[in-house]
Amino acid sequence: MKSSSLTRAVLSTVLQPVFSTRPNPGRSIVCSASPPKPRTPLYQRPPAFRATLSELKKWHVWAKNQAASVGSSFLDLDDGPDSPLLLRELNWLVEDALERPSVLSPQNSSSNYDDAIPVSIRACLYDLYKLWKQRIEERRPFQYLVGCEHWRDLILSVEEGVLIPRPETEIIVDLVDDAVRGNEKLRNGIWADLGTGSGALAIAVARILGVGSGRVIATDLSPVAVAVASYNVERYNLQDRVAVRLGSWFDPLEDVKGELSGLVSNPPYIPSEDIDGLQAEVSKHEPRLALDGGANGMNDLIHLCNGAASMLKPGGFFAFETNGETQSKRLMDYMDTKMKGSFYSINITPDFAGIQRFVTGYRA
Ligand SMILES: C[S@@+](CC[C@H](N)C(=O)[O-])C[C@H]1O[C@@H](n2cnc3c(N)ncnc32)[C@H](O)[C@@H]1O
Repeated sequence: MKSSSLTRAVLSTVLQPVFSTRPNPGRSIVCSASPPKPRTPLYQRPPAFRATLSELKKWHVWAKNQAASVGSSFLDLDDGPDSPLLLRELNWLVEDALERPSVLSPQNSSSNYDDAIPVSIRACLYDLYKLWKQRIEERRPFQYLVGCEHWRDLILSVEEGVLIPRPETEIIVDLVDDAVRGNEKLRNGIWADLGTGSGALAIAVARILGVGSGRVIATDLSPVAVAVASYNVERYNLQDRVAVRLGSWFDPLEDVKGELSGLVSNPPYIPSEDIDGLQAEVSKHEPRLALDGGANGMNDLIHLCNGAASMLKPGGFFAFETNGETQSKRLMDYMDTKMKGSFYSINITPDFAGIQRFVTGYRA
């Protein structure tokens, strides 16, 4: 991967923060299933395919024309990607797919290379056409095309069935960092990431806790998410510090009830009726289970808040992501009134855009 991960992480995510077979949050579900095997991200696959430079150039010109033809139509329709963003994504696709991406750079477009030379690629030429057609015609998210997303200092495997981690969620990791700094009890305790998706938060939190005795348990109701999160945990060699469990919210955590030092979650919080209005990349492709927070988006947040009171030990820290100011305030009010005395130092922290998105606090 040659592009700056920060640039790519921030720019590629025009995705807004989606199958209502979702369960009642309070329902007890712990299941076991043999998970599907996650796909290796494109950039990590062997360059086992060949095409001539002229064939690749032809594909590249076609793909650029496809991207240019979009103009601002997706942007106008549902805040989707415009041509400049699609062209940037195309460059990233070239970087991930070609062993030597420079053969398609503008400087080499004239005659530096013989058009008949074979070029090594990580997917066959037919797939490159298919992938880009999916991007433009089906609005399939770029991250699902290449099978990964750059997030913080991580490159996480993602695929259909797993939410693409968003840049704003990175702030939760900073909040955890602040909480454990100078608090060795928290740093060396047991943490939980509820609704782990790709495993982003669990992996990042484990890295913040460091090599002491701190551990993270990540849970998700989706077998695909559990498989992908486990794969990412292995890719970062953190199997001894992060355990991934399948099940609904706190159900897989009965063995650590009242013993958690920390709890983080970015639960589904989009009001059900708003989902169809999100950009097509999200509404048509990302899992509804990861987005749908019920009528006002608060179902899971309230469930997590109730559970935090019994799962955290006194002094234990929590950080929840919400949709924004309204949900954050509602959650804070709920803690202040319905759960009076259960928590202290309850605080709301904004995201990069100033949206009041994160609710944090400690168990009394
Ligand atoms: C908004 S996504 C967050 C994913 C990941 N933490 C991130 O920030 O990228 C919410 C996650 O909650 C999971 N989820 C939904 N309902 C759940 C439940 N009842 N129990 C556990 N996880 C659930 C979804 O499968 C999804 O992975």
